[in-house]
Amino acid sequence: MNDPQFALIGSNAGMNRGNGCIYPADNPVDVWQFELDLAMDEVAEVERVLSPDERGRANRFKHADDRDRYIIAHGSLRMLLGRYVDEPPGQLEFNCTPNGKPRLVNPTRPSLRFNLSHSDKLALVAVTCGREVGIDVERIDPNCDFESIAREFFTPAEQAALRASPSHERCSTFFKLWTCKESVLKAMGEGFQRSPTSISLTLQRDRKSVELEIPQDSTEARRWSIRILPGITGYAAALTIEG
Ligand SMILES: CC(C)(COP(=O)(O)OP(=O)(O)OC[C@H]1O[C@@H](n2cnc3c(N)ncnc32)[C@H](O)[C@@H]1OP(=O)(O)O)[C@@H](O)C(=O)NCCC(=O)NCCS
Repeated sequence: MNDPQFALIGSNAGMNRGNGCIYPADNPVDVWQFELDLAMDEVAEVERVLSPDERGRANRFKHADDRDRYIIAHGSLRMLLGRYVDEPPGQLEFNCTPNGKPRLVNPTRPSLRFNLSHSDKLALVAVTCGREVGIDVERIDPNCDFESIAREFFTPAEQAALRASPSHERCSTFFKLWTCKESVLKAMGEGFQRSPTSISLTLQRDRKSVELEIPQDSTEARRWSIRILPGITGYAAALTIEG
C-alpha cells in the first residue's frame, strides 16, 4: 500500500532512523502535514487500516466528503504512528484519557504522545515523547463572523487586543489566537470541556509568539510553550508543548 504523502513541516531535532523505525533523537516535537483529499481508490486502501470502531464512526458522517476525510485523517495517523513504533498501522491500538484525549497503547513506546487536528482539506499531527502536546489547524475563512465568536470565547483582554489590531490584520489575529487557544486546551487534554476563557493569551509584538496566562495558576501557565506554525497558506495553525 502506498502511504499518503506526509510532509514534516517542523522538528526541533534530527531523527534517528534505526531498526526500520523513525524515532526522536532527543525528545523533539515533529509536526507532520498531509492532505485530506485523495482519489476514491486511495480512500478505500487507507480505510483498510482502520479499526471496526473507526469504520463505524466514518460511516456515521452524512456527507461523503466528511466520511472520506475522516478515513484519510485516521488512516494516515495510523500509518504515521506505525512508523514511530515499527508496527503495522492496522494493529495499533488507541485509548482515551478520562477527558477524551486519544493515546496510543504501545508497551514498547509508552511515552509516545501525539495530537491530531484537521480542517477542511488539511491535517496536522504532532508527535513527541514524554511530554504532552496539542495542535490545532483551522482554514482561514475570511467571511467568518470572528467578532461574535471572540465575544463568546475570548477573554476581555483578548477581545480588546483583537479590537486594537489594525482592521486588515484582525481576521488573521483572530485565527492566530483561536488556534493557539485550542492547541493549549488540547495539550491539557480537556478540549472545550474547559472554558476557553479560563486561559488568556497575549500575542507578542512580533506576532509570532504568544504568552499564556492562567489566572490563579501561574505554575500551570509556565508548564506550556506555544508556537504559531507559519507558512501554511490559507490556514492558521499552532502547537502547544509541555516544557
Ligand atoms: C478536542 C476538541 C477541542 C477538538 O476540536 P476540533 O477543532 O473540532 O477538532 P481538531 O481537528 O482540532 O481536533 C480533533 C482531534 O483532536 C483529538 N482529540 C479529541 N479529544 C481530545 C482532547 N480531549 N484533547 C486533545 N485532543 C483531543 C482527536 O484526535 C480528534 O480527532 P477526531 O475528531 O477526528 O477523532 C473538541 O472536540 C473538544 O473539546 N472535545 C471535548 C469535548 C467533547 O465533546 N467530548 C466528547 C468525547 S469525550
